[in-house]
Amino acid sequence: MLVDSFGRVATDLRVSLTDRCNLRCSYCMPPEGLDWLPKPDLLTAEEIVRLVTIGVERLGITEVRYTGGEPLLRRELVEIVAATARLRPRPQIMLTTNGIGLARLAAPLAEAGLDRINVSLDTLDPAVFLRLAHRDRLPDVLDGLAAAHRVGLTPVKINAVLMRGVNDHEAVPLLRFSLDHGYELRFIEQMPLDAQHGWRRENMITADEILGRLKASFDLVGDDPRDRGSAPAELFLVNGGPARVGVIGSVTRPFCGACDRVRLTADGQIRNCLFATEESDLRTALRSGASDDDLAARWISAVGRKKAGHGIDDPSFLQPARPMSAIGG
Ligand code: 5AD
Ligand code: SF4
Repeated sequence: MLVDSFGRVATDLRVSLTDRCNLRCSYCMPPEGLDWLPKPDLLTAEEIVRLVTIGVERLGITEVRYTGGEPLLRRELVEIVAATARLRPRPQIMLTTNGIGLARLAAPLAEAGLDRINVSLDTLDPAVFLRLAHRDRLPDVLDGLAAAHRVGLTPVKINAVLMRGVNDHEAVPLLRFSLDHGYELRFIEQMPLDAQHGWRRENMITADEILGRLKASFDLVGDDPRDRGSAPAELFLVNGGPARVGVIGSVTRPFCGACDRVRLTADGQIRNCLFATEESDLRTALRSGASDDDLAARWISAVGRKKAGHGIDDPSFLQPARPMSAIGG
């Protein structure tokens, strides 16, 4: 098992399939994009499947989430999902995507064994979308959401990040839209993970603010916190249910104590935390002929060193060198 020195067990593996993206969300990367990882540094599909297999068969991983950058840009995605679905014990397979291209890929992904999906959607206004993501692609995202719902990747979840003066007037419209379409909405506090290091605490819309805005228009009743487990979202029944909305207070209500996640970057580094400042290089080991036992041992020791929390509130907090797009959400 992947156990750290605080007794937390990592069972949820997040695998970034590429650091590239076709959007430029300002909380993630600058409008001009980033220097992408060189192709030879990326794990091949075979290498990814080998590491995921070790995670599932030997290390107790029960949930595999593919992320990016934008994972739909990875050509072998459907095959990687299919190979993951053949593992025993069969893990839950999830995907986090910006939705562009999902209209076409939702059906093949569902057929390959994808269980559930999270789509990022921060605004319903095409002009705000353009300002926020620097690309005019809102209709593609909405089509992608509809396709995922149609092929049964349900409940389709939406991730939304609110930014002061940009889209913070959209909390209520986003929830109304989600209720109308049967999507499950989660608001995520903006974290200091952008490549440009432009995060400012005062521009972050906090969980308290989000709940304040929603409560002005909806009746929200919190789930019993004991049911939360390792899930970062605090869930609320909306207008008596069954619909729910989630609020992920990554910064102001950290959930590090219950964290069950471990990450594999597109270039084969194990990160024991989004905010880790050190990584363990499985790619070099793998390419120099390491056995499955050896790779598993390196992975176990990487998780063993996981810190107690992200420390965003510590005066000594340092933003990780890698932006979100190169870590995997
Ligand atoms: N803070 C919070 N959420 C972020 N995401 C990307 N960057 C940040 C950030 N700085 C979200 C995306 C996506 C998921 C992978 O994480 O919107 O839904
Ligand atoms: Fe792309 Fe996701 Fe980063 Fe937006 S947050 S630029 S969709 S990787």
